[in-house]
Amino acid sequence: MKQQRILLLIGGGIAAYKCLDLIRRLREEGVSVRAVMTRAATQFITPLSVGALTNEKVFTDLFDLNDEQEIGHIRLSREADLLIVAPATADFLAKMAGGHADDLASTVLMAIDKPVLVAPAMNPRMWLHPATRRNVAQLEADGIRFVGPNTGEMAERNEAGPGRLAEVPEIIAAAKAILAKPATPLRSVRSKAPLAGRHVLVTSGPTHEPIDPVRYIANRSSGKQGHAIAAAAAALGARVTLVTGPVALPDPQGVDVVRVETAAEMLAAVTQGLPADVGVFAAAVADWRPAATPKEKIKKAKDETPAIALVENPDILAAIAKPGARRPSLVIGFAAETRDVVAYAKKKREAKGADWIAANDVSPKSGVFGGDANTVHLVTASGVEDWPKLTKDEVAERLMRRAAEFLKQSAAAAE
Ligand code: PMT
Repeated sequence: MKQQRILLLIGGGIAAYKCLDLIRRLREEGVSVRAVMTRAATQFITPLSVGALTNEKVFTDLFDLNDEQEIGHIRLSREADLLIVAPATADFLAKMAGGHADDLASTVLMAIDKPVLVAPAMNPRMWLHPATRRNVAQLEADGIRFVGPNTGEMAERNEAGPGRLAEVPEIIAAAKAILAKPATPLRSVRSKAPLAGRHVLVTSGPTHEPIDPVRYIANRSSGKQGHAIAAAAAALGARVTLVTGPVALPDPQGVDVVRVETAAEMLAAVTQGLPADVGVFAAAVADWRPAATPKEKIKKAKDETPAIALVENPDILAAIAKPGARRPSLVIGFAAETRDVVAYAKKKREAKGADWIAANDVSPKSGVFGGDANTVHLVTASGVEDWPKLTKDEVAERLMRRAAEFLKQSAAAAE
């Protein structure tokens, strides 16, 4: 990122203080940073501290005639290689999506012809509100990139969920990824993309079911296949919600990520993520969880091996595939089998009510768990397609192109 110029637009939220660290880290990377602060942002941190770290004048008011003469909002936009909005509040996202230009920050955004990276931060209910969902979908369709928000504790007491500002290293990694590629023209014609205007909800990774505060039941899923599907759907123009169990993968670009641990949390997050046009259930959800979870670590006792009683977890795929108004138009499940892959997958399609099942062999010799390749058999109502061995990215793209084609045909049939 050396010698590149970032215009940081600081919004009015409690997380604004993290921008001070962001500026410091960006400058350590050799980037020059100029800052614009909304009026509300100046209530949380002072232009003086921002200016001390950027070593540049801080811009706060559109109607400062001196600034307009000396530099002007058009030049502020044009002289940047990348614009970062952090923290982006619900109100600011609404302004951006609506194309408002009634203060310096929103005017700069309207004048920009460079990539824009948005790091939202707000209360989880505001992030999940249908109005914010609509605004985010609009902004993504306009070519705006998102990093975060992360899931976790809020500044408000007893509040948790998606809405925390992405961590500074995550924002920097997203900025680097954007700057490493040739600039994507803003407001690129994404509406022509096969999944433009569609919402795709994807589950990925394993779930962790606690035995006690230090131990858990899990499986070998790495999340590679599920994350690749989320990335492919986003690349084809969809708004994507990725509900993921614990994985060691970076978030795919331009995807709303909701992190969960257990099957119960995954079901709650998926239900909250609806409605969706397509649901893809690639997570390896634990079928069972310990019936009881003691608050303290289970101690080893001499000559005594504890027995762990298990209870069945909710079946997320079956719950979402049930007929009803909120059922996605296309429900795609996976089947992970170690033998009789297609026969079991056919049974699972019927039993769980999925439209399609992507069946894969997960026996150790296949190397599918954690590997980069997969051999899929797509089981639908009309038969079985045997796909060749492909990379997980190729499987993902093929599956999402098929989904786009299905939605197109369904829409044409409904006309
Ligand atoms: O993550 P990777 O390392 O890339 O590996 C990819 C993968 C092997 C995990 C993936 O391709 C895959 O097969 N995912 C589904 C794993 C699985 O749980 O399969 P299953 O046959 O046990 O379940 C069938 C379907 O029901 C799946 O869509 C699963 O998400 C869903 N399910 C299962 C149990 C449960 N309680 N709720 C569910 O929704």
